[in-house]
Amino acid sequence: MRVTASAPGKAILCGEHACVFGEPAVAMAINLRAKASAKLRKDELVHIVAKDIGASGYFEGKEFKSEVGGMEARLKLEPIQFAVEEVLRSARKVAGINLEVQSDIPIAVGLGSSAAVAVASATAASELLGLKMKKEDICSIAFRSERIVHINPSGIDNIISTYGGAILFRKGTEFLRLRIPVEFPLIVGDTRISRSTGEMVSFVKESKEKYPDVVEPILRSIGQLSERAAKALEKGNLEEFGEFMNINHELLSAIGVSNEFLDRLTHVARKAGALGAKLTGAGGGGCIIALALPDKVNSVMKAIEREGGSPFIVRKDDEGVRCWSEG
Ligand code: PMV
Repeated sequence: MRVTASAPGKAILCGEHACVFGEPAVAMAINLRAKASAKLRKDELVHIVAKDIGASGYFEGKEFKSEVGGMEARLKLEPIQFAVEEVLRSARKVAGINLEVQSDIPIAVGLGSSAAVAVASATAASELLGLKMKKEDICSIAFRSERIVHINPSGIDNIISTYGGAILFRKGTEFLRLRIPVEFPLIVGDTRISRSTGEMVSFVKESKEKYPDVVEPILRSIGQLSERAAKALEKGNLEEFGEFMNINHELLSAIGVSNEFLDRLTHVARKAGALGAKLTGAGGGGCIIALALPDKVNSVMKAIEREGGSPFIVRKDDEGVRCWSEG
């Protein structure tokens, strides 16, 4: 029997970085998903194939044997192996698993690919072993897997990948589901520059420690923006939400996580008629998101492309992780 699970990626609509320090943030699951397919093996190895990231190999406990990607494959696959091992530990089972991972979510550009892969992998392994784990347990495993990748994540990515929809998140508390009465396409502008979330988060932590009187009020303002952005979205007021996106981008720029390319993309998007545009995720590369009314979507996408970005449209995905079996 083969069990497959898929989980959505995410876009942070407001509040990245500030949420690491306990401020609220708004995030939405997007209609790009990661998929993990699991099958039992006859031995006790965990074999992982992740073609998108050019890595495959076998884990036997702490031992790793690379098949594709050399020893770097170990670093790429360890968070996935961790998710599978945690499930095996919960099942108190010694078993071998073949796991194949595939993702539509661009990697390391702020769209939550690692969390989606961890959520899908833990879910597929758990269903394969007949565990029927609760979503909150899957989410917790994915959070711990995310710590291997991002060092000090807030936990927003694993929540949104597990539960889907749009949420107001605050670290360490129950998240609030947002009911957004309007459909809107979100334009992503990918710089295709990958960066490390862990490094960007450490950078903000260091500036906060160096200049607490300057940086802390900015992070608090970002938190206030998130509260207001959530309300604007729940009222269906996209114009107001767009203004909050713009302010959010400039505050993120003030704490040093934007760069010239991201700034240019947000500016051309606004000039082409976007209601709002901001970097999304850790910054330093990755993506911007822009919000535009239907008659302006094409011109915003063209402006992003002319500026050297890679534009595509995403939409809210209300479905979190899902799972099915074959054979
Ligand atoms: O770029 P991403 O998808 O890793 O998102 C990072 C969001 C941060 O707020 C910067 C970090 C976090 O864990 O919340």
